[in-house]
Amino acid sequence: KKLAVFVSGGGSNFRAIHEATVEGSIYGDVTVLVTDKPSCGGAEYARDNEIPVILFPKGKSISEGLSPDDLVSTLRNFEVDFILLAGFLKLIPVELVRAYPRSILNIHPSLLPAFGGKGFYGLNVHKAVVASGARYSGPTVHFVDEHYDTGRILAQRVVPVLANDTAEQLAARVLQQEHQIYVEVVSALCEERIIWREDGVPLIRRKE
Ligand code: GRF
Repeated sequence: KKLAVFVSGGGSNFRAIHEATVEGSIYGDVTVLVTDKPSCGGAEYARDNEIPVILFPKGKSISEGLSPDDLVSTLRNFEVDFILLAGFLKLIPVELVRAYPRSILNIHPSLLPAFGGKGFYGLNVHKAVVASGARYSGPTVHFVDEHYDTGRILAQRVVPVLANDTAEQLAARVLQQEHQIYVEVVSALCEERIIWREDGVPLIRRKE
């Protein structure tokens, strides 16, 4: 399968996924990287690994670079099967959501629906978790719709919040688990091991 990864930051999840494709635990290839921040760590890693980098449409009315429709056709030209958001901060245009039904995933660093939605990104999420007194947090992988963090939940992993955790310490503990769970889920996606329950909930079938 052909994967497009979208990043805005350091790209450690992107790296984990790319390494898994190279080493063969994901049956797929990262065919293209999309970013709104061409100088971010993720884009740099893509260039180092000869993965083409394309710029995400900027602005709503004046489109600098690609329009959402151009982005869709560019991804089609790359024959992209699945889109993986990995620390990508912009909202996905509805054109893209419609063009890739049940094919766009995001990873979020809390147990959704808690601590999700606009404003909950990066360290903010972990700060809010620590401040709330919640005893558990952890990553959620979910399908993407046209809103922030509201698409169908596909997988989660529980990570304890320790009594004296700082947001940074919690973030690091959650991020380690993000890398593992995202690789597992993308491997299931590429092997067509996602089944949709009648009520629209996606489930992962274990490897035989
Ligand atoms: C991760 O915590 C991810 O869940 C969130 O942004 C962070 C990205 O980290 N959406 P990286 O760029 O993959 O290192």
